[in-house]
Amino acid sequence: MMTKEDYLKEYDDYQSMRDNVKKDNYRLQYHLMPPTGFLNDPNGLFQKDGVYHIYFQYTPFTAGWGTKLWGHYTSKDMVNFNQEQPFLYPDLSIDRNGVYSGSAFVEDGTIHYFYTGNVKLTDRDDYDYINSGREQNTIHMTSKDGYEISEKQLLLSNDDYPRDMSKHVRDPKIFKKDNYYYMVLGGRTSDNHGCVLLYRSKDLNHFEYCNRIIAPDFGYMWECPDLFELDGQLFLVTCPQGIPQQGYDYANVYQTGYFRVDYDFDNNTYELSEFKELDRGFDIYAPQSFLDEKNRRIQYAWMGIPDAEYNNQPTVDYDWQHALTMPRVLFYKNNQIYQQPLEEMKNLRLEEIVSDCKNIKQKDTVVYEMQVDFDGSQDFILQIRDDVKLSYQNQVLSLNLKESGYGRSSRSVELKEVNSLTVYSDTSSLEIFINDGQEVFTTRVYGNLSNQNIEFLTKNKGVVAFYPLKGYTIIKND
Ligand code: FRU
Repeated sequence: MMTKEDYLKEYDDYQSMRDNVKKDNYRLQYHLMPPTGFLNDPNGLFQKDGVYHIYFQYTPFTAGWGTKLWGHYTSKDMVNFNQEQPFLYPDLSIDRNGVYSGSAFVEDGTIHYFYTGNVKLTDRDDYDYINSGREQNTIHMTSKDGYEISEKQLLLSNDDYPRDMSKHVRDPKIFKKDNYYYMVLGGRTSDNHGCVLLYRSKDLNHFEYCNRIIAPDFGYMWECPDLFELDGQLFLVTCPQGIPQQGYDYANVYQTGYFRVDYDFDNNTYELSEFKELDRGFDIYAPQSFLDEKNRRIQYAWMGIPDAEYNNQPTVDYDWQHALTMPRVLFYKNNQIYQQPLEEMKNLRLEEIVSDCKNIKQKDTVVYEMQVDFDGSQDFILQIRDDVKLSYQNQVLSLNLKESGYGRSSRSVELKEVNSLTVYSDTSSLEIFINDGQEVFTTRVYGNLSNQNIEFLTKNKGVVAFYPLKGYTIIKND
């Protein structure tokens, strides 16, 4: 339990954490990171009356796992942000061990929030946290402004989920289709199959179970589902756990990707495409998307992952860990999702330096955007930092890190050709978009922040546009 009053009382005791974070040179310049402590999933994303609200799973007083609050940033233009006071606290018996992930749905001027109230019944003899000893409460509340909330209302609890489910059911997200609001929830059956539960409602207050989406032999748990349409095609994004690596695929401990779904809502039947990973990097999990007022489908993800064999010790030493990815706009093209950096990121450019591939001479700048357009598709080695290489050989694109990866080593994807690259480099992160967002590699990296060389080895001809970037402006309202 942590009420708002508890938080405000404790806040004063943690000035040293805030001082410590400020001293860290690996603080990110243009990514949303926790003010102190630990950040994981993006939550409750929406835009209303011109203001973007970005909430996130937040443990303010420890840079490790702990009781979750929802942290909160707002912005009118996606480059100037306000750091707000935490928005949601685990302050009731139905969410006392953490206000877990959830989402927002805006209609007729009202913001509807849905989230999971996590309750651990550790005093029970049969407590095992998987099949017993845990409540996963689906909770609803509303707001007009994204700050003040109505009373929390319990919508669904363990007894409302199908009987063969384990006690892992969570992360509600809403999708409206015709006359119904559909809610997806991530889940694990008691015999360890990952799935998504589908509920539906006419009024956002009463939900009835309607179906489950499942793929044969595809992991023991699916977290953080997101159901949405792009150009009329339905997609289910989710994070399956328990899938063994196959060649270059599924190399991370848990997966982040999507199915195309052909759903017949009249007959309640569906077909799934193959699962495709959204990102080929090391640090990607729990993406969530929303439609903004310009009708763009914007996705943020957690630029981190639970239970990985690599770590972020350099920032943990300064009392913070993890960040959100940069916002990406999703498109449907060539039967798949393409991801592109949000247009507003261009407002961070300080200057433009154009050269050809052979003559990039950049040193000492680690906060930048670099766009490379090749004339053809030949093999290459791009040294992004002294310790980081992106190479394309025999139709395999690989990202390789050494010591600065803190355990992150190599990730690859097969690609018939590479025609363009966009690298977004921040102090301690890299996001690399290939072929206009056909594939993306996202990673944290902790190398030397000065004296970094960028160099291309390739027969490719092409144009490189290099943009040193300024950081976000973040005003603290908390
Ligand atoms: C995914 C997740 C969610 C859960 C939240 C708790 O990273 O495990 O399933 O709601 O994080 O912080």
